Amino acid sequence: MKHIFAKGSNPESPTFLLLHGTGGTERDLLPLAERLDPTASVLSVRGNVLENGMPRFFRRLAEGVFDEEDLVFRTKELYDFLDQAALEHGFDRDNVVAVGYSNGANIAGSLLFHYRDALKGAVLHHPMVPRRGIPLPDLTGVPVFIGAGRNDPICPAQETEELAGLLEGAGASVQVHWEYYGHQLTGTEVQAAAEWVRKQWP
Ligand code: MLT
Repeated sequence: MKHIFAKGSNPESPTFLLLHGTGGTERDLLPLAERLDPTASVLSVRGNVLENGMPRFFRRLAEGVFDEEDLVFRTKELYDFLDQAALEHGFDRDNVVAVGYSNGANIAGSLLFHYRDALKGAVLHHPMVPRRGIPLPDLTGVPVFIGAGRNDPICPAQETEELAGLLEGAGASVQVHWEYYGHQLTGTEVQAAAEWVRKQWP
C-alpha cells in the first residue's frame, strides 16, 4: 500500500498507524501524530480504493452504507500490510496504535472487530459501527479513544454509543470524548486525544 514511514526518536513509543478520511492522503494526519506524540514512529497509509478519484479504505454502496465484502477484504489487506511493513521498516508489530479519522477510523474499527492482535490501541475520530452481527475478538485491555460529535450527521450519537458498547463488551477500555461540531475534527478533540495518549503510553 502507498505509505509514508517516519522513524520516531523514542523506541518505546507506539508506532502510529495513520488512516485518513475520504478524499485524503497519507500526508493528512502527519500533523495530528505530531500533536499526539512527537517522539513516536509513524506509518501513514493511503487507502487503496478510489471513489470518484477520492482515496478511501473500502468501498461503500451509499453514504453510510458499507460494501461489507470489500470492507472484510480491505481490512485483511491492511492487516497483512502491517506485518509486511513491520519487517520492511523494523518497527515493533505488537506496538501499533491506529489513529484514524472518519473513513480511516472506520477501517481501524474494522481491524479491531476482525482481529484480536491487530492493534495495541486506537484513536478513532468520528467512527461508525463498521459491521454488525459478528462476534468480536477478545479485546481485553485494548484502550480505545473515540472522538464524536453529538450532532454529527454522518455518525449519529446513538451509533457512537453503540460502537463504544460493542468494544467494551469485547473487553476494550473505551473513552468517549464529545464535541458539538458535526463531523469536524476540532483542536479541542485533538487535545483530548493527546492527553489520553499521554496517559496510556507515558
Ligand atoms: C465512510 O464511508 O467510511 C463514512 O461514511 C465516513 C466517510 O464519509 O468517509
